[in-house]
Amino acid sequence: MEQFRIQGGRKLRGEVRISGAKNAALPAMAAALLTREPVHLKNIPHVRDIVTMAKLLAHMRCRVESPDIPPSAFTIQAETVSHAEAPYELVKTMRASVLTLGPLLARFGRARVSLPGGCAIGARPIDLHIQALEALGGEISVDHGYVQARAERLRGARVRFPRITVTGTENILTAAALAEGETILENAALEPEIGDLAELLVKMGAKIEGAGTPTIWIEGVKELHGTEHTIIPDRIEAGTFLVAGAMAGGEITLTHCAPHHLGALIAKLRECGVDIRCDAADNSILRVRAPKKLLAADVITQEYPGFATDMQAQFMALATQAEGVSHIREAIFENRMLHAVELLRMGANIHIEGNSAVVTGPTPLTGAPVTASDLRASASLVLAALVANNTTTIDRVYHIDRGYERIEEKLRGLGASIERVSPSGS
Ligand code: EPZ
Repeated sequence: MEQFRIQGGRKLRGEVRISGAKNAALPAMAAALLTREPVHLKNIPHVRDIVTMAKLLAHMRCRVESPDIPPSAFTIQAETVSHAEAPYELVKTMRASVLTLGPLLARFGRARVSLPGGCAIGARPIDLHIQALEALGGEISVDHGYVQARAERLRGARVRFPRITVTGTENILTAAALAEGETILENAALEPEIGDLAELLVKMGAKIEGAGTPTIWIEGVKELHGTEHTIIPDRIEAGTFLVAGAMAGGEITLTHCAPHHLGALIAKLRECGVDIRCDAADNSILRVRAPKKLLAADVITQEYPGFATDMQAQFMALATQAEGVSHIREAIFENRMLHAVELLRMGANIHIEGNSAVVTGPTPLTGAPVTASDLRASASLVLAALVANNTTTIDRVYHIDRGYERIEEKLRGLGASIERVSPSGS
């Protein structure tokens, strides 16, 4: 299994290009199942979850082609789909496979998708996806670990999510796009990835209004057509580099990002004393400069536009270097604090109680062998290692490869000492 070996203490300077958003690209790829015509998607990040989604679509006999290696664009054509099925082998490595449920059921009237099961950050059920699809007329049963869904044609309905769910909102958006009649989706997620998916669907001929607000109106159409779409920038990758700049800059310039998707994080980092500026001439450029002294701040994770759960682990790494006491509470997932234990091994002063952490800083971190437990946890360990004394070895970096494109190359470009190594015997 590959590892990262990071020698801390280098100041980061220079420019980094932000990739397309994994969590926008995944539903966009699944949405290509809604039409027999080709869908061209650009600004696709080359990360492992995208490769898994491409494999899943190919398993369903879709044509998945890319003009370049590694792929930064895909043409996906689901002219016919012989297996309307997402098998356990693929779903277990990527929960977002569940995003195929809505499109398959809406277009083919049947779907068989493995239940994802729990993951490192929590139980993560899909009961809300299932209830909402049932409200649209889907007949759904759960058998032998698979969700089996059938419907002659889905019918529009008024659906209210009792709790906000991002991929749940995406599944209902794609399903309702081909349903008969009107769907009104209430308490929908507001994440920018929802707006991006709705924009793609509208280009494909869907009738959708209100995406990006809590109530989305969808008038189903009989058929959708092919189109071309550019995926929005990855706000979590951008956020991770902002934290890197705040902790280990120098000054870093982020290009090809969407600063307006980063409001809560930028406000929090400014509270910590970090200097972040938008470029006056180009609104896709952000500059971050580390302060002489980082200050502690409190964080509670929330749905967008609140502070993203996907930035909580990285913020905790920063809090170890900030003066004072930071209270961090994870309010979206029940078990997203595993990185804290690894940060403790590097010398951090963190007290964990359930879903809350009290971080007292600043503490000098020392390099240690640590293990990544999930995607964003691994990013937090990389950030901690960048400021630690000596060498940190991070095990199980396949987690980080799920969602960060060439992170070690991007960090090396900024002056970090980071290499990917394969320990002998693995
Ligand atoms: C999406 O996951 C993202 N994944 C996650 O990104 C992100 O952390 C999460 O939204 C929250 O922002 C993708 O977009 C592919 P939810 P999702 O449904 O949709 C509970 C990353 O690091 N819930 O909004 O699965 C659930 O357990 C990741 O890139 C139910 O109870 O998250 C959680 O507590 C990981 N029943 C809360 O709702 C359901 O049917 C929010 O989850 C669905 C969700």
